[in-house]
Amino acid sequence: MLTTVFAVIGFLSIALYVGPLLFQTIFFNVQNLKKKYNAQWALVTGGSSGIGLAMSETLASQGINVVVAALNDKAMESAKVSLPRKFPGIQFRFVSVNLGAHDPTVYMTPLIEATNDISVQLVFNNAGYILVGLFHLTSLEAIMSCLNCNNIAAVQITHHFTGRLVAESQKGAVFFTSSPGGFMASPMAPLYSTTKSFLTNFAVSIAAELTPNNIDVCVIHPSPTNTAFYNGAGNMSTLTTFQKLSGSPQAIVDAALRCIGRTVNVEHGWYTVGNRLLLKILDYTVMSDLMWVFVRGQGDYEKIRVGQLEKLGGKTVGSVTARGGVVASKAVKGQ
Ligand SMILES: NC(=O)c1ccc[n+]([C@@H]2O[C@H](COP(=O)([O-])OP(=O)(O)OC[C@H]3O[C@@H](n4cnc5c(N)ncnc54)[C@H](OP(=O)(O)O)[C@@H]3O)[C@@H](O)[C@H]2O)c1
Repeated sequence: MLTTVFAVIGFLSIALYVGPLLFQTIFFNVQNLKKKYNAQWALVTGGSSGIGLAMSETLASQGINVVVAALNDKAMESAKVSLPRKFPGIQFRFVSVNLGAHDPTVYMTPLIEATNDISVQLVFNNAGYILVGLFHLTSLEAIMSCLNCNNIAAVQITHHFTGRLVAESQKGAVFFTSSPGGFMASPMAPLYSTTKSFLTNFAVSIAAELTPNNIDVCVIHPSPTNTAFYNGAGNMSTLTTFQKLSGSPQAIVDAALRCIGRTVNVEHGWYTVGNRLLLKILDYTVMSDLMWVFVRGQGDYEKIRVGQLEKLGGKTVGSVTARGGVVASKAVKGQ
C-alpha cells in the first residue's frame, strides 16, 4: 500500500512537470508580439547586450519600436549603432541608466521622460548580473547595487508601466529574466539566488492579479547562455564550466516568445530542467544542509575568500569584484 502511494506521488511529481514542458516544446510556436498585443513600443532593460540585445533585435524584426535601457558603456554605444543600422524602419530610444542606483529616481526619471509620449505595451525586465564574492567580504554598496538592479528596478519599472497600461485600458505583457539559480542557495554569490527567487515569485504573484486587465506576465529561467554575464564570474570554476556549456541568447528569446501569454513560469534548457528534477529527489532542506556542510570545503570557496582578502588588504571593499566594483562606482556617480 505504502509503496503504491510513493509510486503515485513520484509519478505525479515528474509527470506534472515534464508533461507540460513537452507540450510547450511541441505545440507552442514563436508568437508575433506586434500582432498578439497590437504593440507599437517595447522596453527592454539590459537591451544592449546578450539576451536583452537578442530580444531587442527580435522585437524590431517583428516591427516593434524599442526603448533600450542599460548602462552607459561600450555595449550601449555599440547597440546605438548596430540596432538602427540593422532595422532602418524601426524607432529606437536609448536610455543610459544605472538600474543599480540606490535612489530609483536616478533611473525612473529618465525612463519616464523617454516614454511619456508613447505607449509601452511590452516590458522586458531583463537587466541583471551576478556578484561573485563572500557576503561579509563584499562592500555593502556593491551588494545593494546588485539588489537594486536585479530586483528593485524591476519592481519600480513594472509598477510604473503596468499602472499606465491599466489606466489606459491597454493590453500588454511584462516579462522577467530570472534564473535557475533562484531554485536553491548560491553561496559565493548569495545575492544571485536570492534576487532571482524574488523575481520568480514576484512575477508569478502579479501574473494572477494582472490577467483580468489583459496584461500577461511571464518569467523565464534560462540555462547557461553565452553572454557577457560570465565576465562577472571572476575565476569561479562552476561558472566558467557553465560558460563552456552555454547556449545562444536567441534560444532564450524564442522560448520566451513561445510562452508569453500561454504560461507564466518558463523553464528553459537542460540545466534548468535538470535542477528542477534534482530538487524533486533531493529536497530543498536536504540541499541546503548539503551546501552548508560541503561548500566551505570546495576549492572555489577558499580561492574566492583569499582573493577578496588580498584585494581588501590593499584597497577599498568596493573593488571586491570587477562587476560589483564597476556598478557600485557608477551608482555613486549617478546620485
Ligand atoms: N547568461 C546566462 O547564463 C544567464 C542564465 C540565467 C539568467 N541570466 C539572466 O539573464 C539576464 C541578462 O543577462 P545576459 O546573460 O544577457 O548578460 P549580459 O550580456 O551581461 O547582459 C546584462 C544586461 O544588463 C545590463 N545591466 C547590468 N547591470 C546594469 C545596471 N546596473 N544598470 C543598467 N543595466 C545594467 C547590461 O548593460 P551593459 O551591457 O551596458 O553593462 C546588459 O545589457 C540577467 O538578468 C541574468 O541574470 C543569464
